[in-house]
Amino acid sequence: MFKVDLRHAFFSPRLAYERMRVAKKVKAGEIVVNMFAGVGCFSILIAKVQPKVRKVYSIDINPVAVAYMRENIRLNKVEGKVVPILGDAHEVLSDFEGVSSRVLMPLPEYSHEFLADAVRALNLHEGGVIHYYTVASGEKDVFKEPFERALRIIRGISPEISVEVEEKRIVRSVAPRKWHVVFDLKLRKSE
Ligand SMILES: C[S@@+](CC[C@H](N)C(=O)[O-])C[C@H]1O[C@@H](n2cnc3c(N)ncnc32)[C@H](O)[C@@H]1O
Repeated sequence: MFKVDLRHAFFSPRLAYERMRVAKKVKAGEIVVNMFAGVGCFSILIAKVQPKVRKVYSIDINPVAVAYMRENIRLNKVEGKVVPILGDAHEVLSDFEGVSSRVLMPLPEYSHEFLADAVRALNLHEGGVIHYYTVASGEKDVFKEPFERALRIIRGISPEISVEVEEKRIVRSVAPRKWHVVFDLKLRKSE
């Protein structure tokens, strides 16, 4: 159950399948960071589907969205599991270096600008997953260009980080020959 004021915060019923797909991947004990949490839909579903998740830190820069997120956390009884944080993901993530097992980036148009922050937030020695939402366009192999851009950013941090695509899919179409896509990127760095 989610409360939202659509004049002031984002909500899309078209993401219901995608939220459940991600929530089902989360394992017991994980520390999850949702960089663009909105009113908390992904984060709260994760805590419901995987009650043994350690924490779901849920950041958003919009104070109205965070106020609704706080209310939605209470309504869904996931206090203490989903932690709302008001702020710019760039800045907030500097406190999360190397701690998380999973980072969600549901801001397709701009997520590449935050990818380096997400990589640094992962515990790379144990390995972690980034759910990287981005935009794809064109006629064929729509995944190629956005994946190569992501790889360039990750390699720029360290060439020793291995990147495996666990899953990729078109999330939804947003314009003629333009899609929101997601890559589940498994990253690891050997000692
Ligand atoms: C497309 S919405 C996704 C919301 C939510 N994950 C959902 O699926 O309902 C993107 C969210 O990112 C937030 N946002 C944009 N820039 C941000 C930033 N620099 N730091 C944190 N949040 C940001 C917006 O306020 C918005 O709520």
